Amino acid sequence: MIRKVLATTIFMMLATILFACQQDDVELGSGQTAHSADLELQPKGHIVIHEQEDPNQTDPNGQEEDSQKPETDENEAITVSDPDAIDVIVNKERKLPDGYEPPDLIQPNVDFHATNEERKYMREEAAHALEELFQAASEEGHDLVAISGYRSYGTQEAVFAMHVSNNGREYAEQYSAVPGHSEHQTGLAMDISTESLGYSLTEDLSDTAEGQWVAEHGHEYGFIIRYPEGKSHITGYNYEPWHLRYFGDNLATAIYESGLTVEEYFGMVE
Ligand code: DAL
Ligand code: ZN
Repeated sequence: MIRKVLATTIFMMLATILFACQQDDVELGSGQTAHSADLELQPKGHIVIHEQEDPNQTDPNGQEEDSQKPETDENEAITVSDPDAIDVIVNKERKLPDGYEPPDLIQPNVDFHATNEERKYMREEAAHALEELFQAASEEGHDLVAISGYRSYGTQEAVFAMHVSNNGREYAEQYSAVPGHSEHQTGLAMDISTESLGYSLTEDLSDTAEGQWVAEHGHEYGFIIRYPEGKSHITGYNYEPWHLRYFGDNLATAIYESGLTVEEYFGMVE
């Protein structure tokens, strides 16, 4: 009898632990698990880790630090001379000066589902514009949620290393900027999602009413979808309907109406 009670108790404990794990973790395609708050889904249904809790942890799987270093030839990258400009362009060929931090970061008053406090910040002008964008969306019945805004060099280093660790360098470079090359470090970008997508960053956003509304109206508030579909050969990144970049309403509208990528609009491609 005692053995039967013991066995039942152990079984119940194991079942409870298993259930708890399923609530917190999501199975990745490659058999890894990650906390749901840190997930990015792209392309449709494919899950990768976007961010991690500890921005100082650059070697999450205990690999040699050098194996996480980006292969981009930093000698060939141009360092932008105007990192504080609202129309600053950073991409795979153009990087921010070493140690760059934006001058006027504030926290926009919008709904967040962020993994840490740092990511709730944006440049002041962009933050107020984001508030107006979210307010206008809400008035149309769309509940947007902010996920990831400002990321310091160190945070981007950790994010990129996590992508490499989980999916390999080639895949990582399709979705994640090497440190110094991310718009998130400018404080002018915000990743968004919505409750129906479980707050994940996924191409599925473009199939939701929220995603479609933002794609059509974001420019009126100064935001464009920086990495459009089918333009990865120009932007260097796969489609990211969740990544909004602030340019101010005049420039954002001009870029939007041109139908061009930022690189094309500014004559940076042949
Ligand atoms: N996901 C974009 C490219 C970034 O990491 O900045
Ligand atoms: Zn982003």
